[in-house]
Amino acid sequence: MPGATTPAGFLRLAEDIAREAGDMLLAKRPAMSTRSADIQTKSSPTDVVTVLDRASEQLIRERILAVRPGDRILGEEEGDHPGETDVRWVVDPIDGTVNFLYGLSDWAVSIAVEVRGRVVAGVVNAAARGEVFTAAAGEGAWLGGERLRCNPAVPLGQALVATGFGYDAARRAVQAEVLTAVLPRVRDIRRGGSCAVDLCSVACGRVDAYYERGVNYWDYAAAGLVAAEAGARIGGLNGRPYNGDLTLCAAPGLFEDLHDLLAPLDPERDA
Ligand code: IPD
Ligand code: CA
Ligand code: CA
Repeated sequence: MPGATTPAGFLRLAEDIAREAGDMLLAKRPAMSTRSADIQTKSSPTDVVTVLDRASEQLIRERILAVRPGDRILGEEEGDHPGETDVRWVVDPIDGTVNFLYGLSDWAVSIAVEVRGRVVAGVVNAAARGEVFTAAAGEGAWLGGERLRCNPAVPLGQALVATGFGYDAARRAVQAEVLTAVLPRVRDIRRGGSCAVDLCSVACGRVDAYYERGVNYWDYAAAGLVAAEAGARIGGLNGRPYNGDLTLCAAPGLFEDLHDLLAPLDPERDA
């Protein structure tokens, strides 16, 4: 079957598709004056989806199924597409839709490929930045021709920490409370607006760490592999694998310090 079945083969296909989707989005980005025409909301009034989120996912699904018609696909906008192979594609057609809408650069097309439940390839195309982050299991993380390494661990007080907030107001209130305790203990906080880009920023050393409550699998499936292949530790609270409850990522050493700061704050609660 075309598209190969090695991590590198899957990555090539995923990268081609993510580049095509990113080019389409760049070409069709809404002008500021027309942007409100294309918006609907999902889980809350702040959780937006544009016609281009849907167009991007449709393009990605069509391209995957044209080459690998038996694979499963999980995408944010369209949900599960059943299949009969042991391969599943996990797609966020635009991670950072609010940034996309406002003409900010931190948004990305994110595509991960799982084989028997394990992510083997991931691509995060931050198209407005002209940056495509890639990783294949056991073969490193890359930005263009440059192999990525996360920053070595620094003391918590010197760590630049990225985080994000959910769309639900009650959850946000807790996130703000947790942040109040974190901010005085770290160098500073960044809120970029895309979980996928944030994790890639850990991978390439633009921030030292990232944590967020409530992200979805499609937000971090690809970028989690990029961060891990760049040497970062990525996980949840109390030794759990990383998941939607809490996703934490930093160099080993700093990961544990940030974990121990967060854990007593009970960051997984919603009220
Ligand atoms: C969101 C972004 C944001 C994060 C939210 C996500 P979307 O994804 O990743 O940074 O804080 O939790 O839902 O809605 O733009 O695809
Ligand atoms: Ca997302
Ligand atoms: Ca999205």
